[in-house]
Amino acid sequence: MNADTCKLLNGGHTYDSNYIEESIKDNRISLIFSLKEEVGALAKVLRIFEEREVSLTHIESRPSRLNKDEYQFFINLDNKSSTALDEIVKCLRQDIGATVHELSRDKKKDAVPWFPRTIQDLDKFANQILSYGAELDADHPGFTDPVYRARRKEFADIAFNYKHGQPIPHVTYTEQEKKTWGVVFKELKSLYPTHACYEHNHVFPLLEEYCGYNEHNIPQLEDVSNFLQTCTGFRLRPVAGLLSSRDFLAGLAFRVFHSTQYIRHWSKPMYTPEPDICHELLGHAPLFADPSFAQFSQEIGLASLGAPDEYIEMLATVYWFTVEFGLCKQGDKIKAYGAGLLSSFGELQYCLTEKPELKPFEPEKTSKQKYPITEFQPVYFIAESFEDAKDKVRKFAATIPRPFSVRYNSFTQSIEVLDNVQQLKNLADCINSEIGILCSALRKLE
Ligand SMILES: [Fe+2]
Repeated sequence: MNADTCKLLNGGHTYDSNYIEESIKDNRISLIFSLKEEVGALAKVLRIFEEREVSLTHIESRPSRLNKDEYQFFINLDNKSSTALDEIVKCLRQDIGATVHELSRDKKKDAVPWFPRTIQDLDKFANQILSYGAELDADHPGFTDPVYRARRKEFADIAFNYKHGQPIPHVTYTEQEKKTWGVVFKELKSLYPTHACYEHNHVFPLLEEYCGYNEHNIPQLEDVSNFLQTCTGFRLRPVAGLLSSRDFLAGLAFRVFHSTQYIRHWSKPMYTPEPDICHELLGHAPLFADPSFAQFSQEIGLASLGAPDEYIEMLATVYWFTVEFGLCKQGDKIKAYGAGLLSSFGELQYCLTEKPELKPFEPEKTSKQKYPITEFQPVYFIAESFEDAKDKVRKFAATIPRPFSVRYNSFTQSIEVLDNVQQLKNLADCINSEIGILCSALRKLE
């Protein structure tokens, strides 16, 4: 039992942490439930577990964000207890009247996969990476360069030690790194006026003015992140290696984009086998400053929370054909908005030629399209607009089998799971208040 719980049992009401250490090596089952604040309420619950000989490996409490007179409890059980779990959940709901959410990283039948509920929860999976950024494949241009490999480790370590809320450490890039950036920057910038979408071209001069984008300087992630936050609330977060699709997409639900900070190897400035800072800052960052695109990206993230694995794969494919390789209609022209295109001199030209096949963006079909990752795309999908693409993703998300809807609360930077009447009442109050503001503003314009 931790300090927070002790404070609660002692009648205290202090609350100082919602961060819970979690080890994915253990097959744990996690539950969150809410109880009305009254003497003996927690004791009754603990008795339910005791009677079924289930021991808790962790318990933590916090005041409920939804109801002032309730407390939320987060508990872990070891997975030997899974057989008794259904009965326990039923008792909590029926006998105690608790609201219960079952969270789990296990692939158990009917269990909702774990997902972050607060922006601080992103710290929990930030280092659950599929490969560490310093490990290079044998065919990587920097594989035999010990200086480059040591440098990659420095960047990976920065990200590994990063926690939400901290400023992203500034990096002093070497002359060689800046030279590599300069080559990429100059070449790509020459194509943007004719090939990039309006939104990218609109934001680019602002990045030059406020974030140090120029041929001779690699911008700092912290400066770009601060700029994006003033535009759309999107922020960058350094990442030490490759995240799973589930974790990467979950970041988007919080308007957090996991970004690399290292640069490609100097020997091949026009090629990189993995995302690097040129890809992130020239391809992704400008679009995240656009409100419609930011909403569209967040929509994909929200759809992914708690979704079954097969839907995560489909959403990752939708992400691939939009945020990475998307084309969009602009007037009677087609332009590029995907970061994989906007950061590749060769593919940015190729994608607007007659060679590739172009199809309309329809998430049901797009999500099933196969794609190569080491060559130019044979197929691209064209969005009518970001608004249209967002509406389509929202409709697609409604087909994902999960027993609740989610909403992002930007005030608390947390995910609200809309699965009970009180949640819906709270949402109705919010909408009511916004409608009031809208009506008042309309009246003033009459
Ligand atoms: Fe990317």
